[in-house]
Amino acid sequence: MNKELRQAVIAGNWKMNKTRPEAKALIEELKPVAEKAACGVVICVPFTNLETAVELTKGTNIKVGAENVHFEKSGAFTGEISADMLTEIGVEYVIIGHSERRQYFGETDETVNKRTKAALAAGLKPIVCVGELLCEREAGITEEVISRQIKLDFAGVSAEDIKKTIIAYEPVWAIGTGKTATAEQAEEVCAFIRGTLSKLYGQAVADTVTIQYGGSMNPKNAAELLAQSDVDGGLIGGASLKAADFGVLLEEASK
Ligand code: 13P
Repeated sequence: MNKELRQAVIAGNWKMNKTRPEAKALIEELKPVAEKAACGVVICVPFTNLETAVELTKGTNIKVGAENVHFEKSGAFTGEISADMLTEIGVEYVIIGHSERRQYFGETDETVNKRTKAALAAGLKPIVCVGELLCEREAGITEEVISRQIKLDFAGVSAEDIKKTIIAYEPVWAIGTGKTATAEQAEEVCAFIRGTLSKLYGQAVADTVTIQYGGSMNPKNAAELLAQSDVDGGLIGGASLKAADFGVLLEEASK
């Protein structure tokens, strides 16, 4: 319920895909497809494509996001990119705490929390990812895991700032596996996340936070997932790399 209080956002997560010429071609294809969307449209692209994406999407309804950000402002952090470096070139969103970063690059709830605060302080809109592993779901501790992630990832984040944040529920077992959560499973956890936010920030604030589902969302299953009352859009991997598929998701989220 209260779906009208928040914006549905479809965000593409290109992950480590697309050279610059490939990125240019995809963005040109996306522009006419995104034009009619009534939902928010974001593409999160590799660092090397950010400037190109910002340039090519000027004057369109497509917003650009990065896939990670460091929490320090500057200094001896070889290989890292700061929030100011992103905002300075016109980037508006950033994915934080994706399960691939947690799994392969040692990301923890503590670093997710630091990155989220740094992003917000710089004026970026974070898309913070949470989600349980298959073994955690099978052990019946999904809610415990999600509750811990929400509490730690947003520790010290104000109510004003949480309203600027998007939360993406991405069950790790559904990412890139073709195994989608059922609409009921997605709704159950997204509603649980909203309930947790309500305890932390109050219902009125929780009702305004955009909570996406991510994990093998595609043109075939999007309608059912996006129709759920606590699912406000999606974070899309594979299907964001094909303009036609992404277009179907935008259409479904615009209904
Ligand atoms: P897929 O849509 O490819 O499963 O990826 C989901 C994801 O990880 C988005 O961040």
